[in-house]
Amino acid sequence: MPSIETMTGSPRAIPAAVLRALLRVPPLSHAAIRLHTLNVDDANLKTIASLIGTDPALSVLLLRLVNSPLFGVRCRVTGVLQAVALLGLEQLRALATTAAFRLMMNGAFDLPALTRCWRHSVACALATQELAVATSVDGDLAYTAGLLHDIGRFGALSCWPKEYSHLLATCDPADLEEREVELLKVSHADAGAFLLEQWGMPAALVQVAREHHDPPLERQPRLVELVGCGCHLADAIGFAVTARAPEDGALADMLACLITDREAFRFRIADGINQIECL
Ligand SMILES: [Fe+2]
Repeated sequence: MPSIETMTGSPRAIPAAVLRALLRVPPLSHAAIRLHTLNVDDANLKTIASLIGTDPALSVLLLRLVNSPLFGVRCRVTGVLQAVALLGLEQLRALATTAAFRLMMNGAFDLPALTRCWRHSVACALATQELAVATSVDGDLAYTAGLLHDIGRFGALSCWPKEYSHLLATCDPADLEEREVELLKVSHADAGAFLLEQWGMPAALVQVAREHHDPPLERQPRLVELVGCGCHLADAIGFAVTARAPEDGALADMLACLITDREAFRFRIADGINQIECL
């Protein structure tokens, strides 16, 4: 059984039994994943539309997303080929990943831990996309990286639903990662990186999943830093993954520095989450 050491270069090894459990986690839609690995130069519009069309549920939700006020384009989009023609590839990836994630959540909104993790992920995606405006990072890539940064939590909830739900409901947020390793023998960050790598997702997204809680380093890529900030902002406006909100004065300071109108920001994020949940 491979270890994460050999697969990602991370010094944090994952026990074989944990890897076996993670390998049973149902992946996101194959079509949505494949979009991330398409060679842009080789892919024509029909090829991309055909790929999305292999997943009817994904196609339906993608069209609803394209036509929603959150992501809406100016004209009514009625077919996948039209959507592919109107959107850039990076935006198409962001929307398809959102649709795939939303499908994964079908029927799970009555589970408090899953709902908190979902809302944190969407809040982080939207916050990271806003932060990217002031950088050279593509906003749609920032969104996707934010959306998938905590995919390891969904893996943990899939493998160990009772244990991880209980941990999220009771743990002091400051101790969460340490307690994950004690209880599950893997952090959600390493679990997420392993899952994304197994699914064949790009290295930049794998790195975000693995490093978004690491202390900032000078050499850390800007995408990881941005998602780390987006994750903190999601916590600061009430979308933390833990039942108890993190008590961190730095969060409030960060929010004050980065966001001029806190209430408007909170409303935009909450409205975005609501729109995706109501699809
Ligand atoms: Fe995280």
